[in-house]
Amino acid sequence: MFARVSCVTVTIITLFCVYTSAQVISQVCLGCICEVSTGCNTTRGCSGSVCGPFAITWGYWSDAGKPTLNNEPTSDDAYARCVNDPYCAAGAVQNYMAKFGHDCTGNGVVDCEDYLRIHRLGANACNGALNSKYENKFKLCLQTFQNQ
Ligand SMILES: *[C@@H]1O[C@H](CO)[C@@H](O)[C@H](O)[C@H]1NC(C)=O
Repeated sequence: MFARVSCVTVTIITLFCVYTSAQVISQVCLGCICEVSTGCNTTRGCSGSVCGPFAITWGYWSDAGKPTLNNEPTSDDAYARCVNDPYCAAGAVQNYMAKFGHDCTGNGVVDCEDYLRIHRLGANACNGALNSKYENKFKLCLQTFQNQ
């Protein structure tokens, strides 16, 4: 089971590498945030207040500067069209972290755990408790990919 998940993650990370470069968050970190958010499921669409593989809300996308798919003009469905697309969604995460990224854990560096916490808990609540299942999945993902 994990082998399949890992394979999917490698594919996703590789795709991100092609589409995003010289950004705030590393490709591995982005891949692991995607993985723990939804299993990086690019076909899950919207459910409740979140959409897409990174489980992004309208407010998050708005704070990220409302990026649009292929830079098309903003429209009523621009949010869903962007965040349901893995590359546009990854761009929204990059923008969001460029704006709000900071050291949540107090270890003196802004690292992937900080980005995950901000993604999950919000920029102002990122020192709060993470769901342990979510946290374990994230640590396993980072361990698996960060030294490649
Ligand atoms: C992705 O999400 C959709 C909709 O929730 C679901 O039907 C599908 O099985 C999921 N795919 C994977 C690989 O988990």
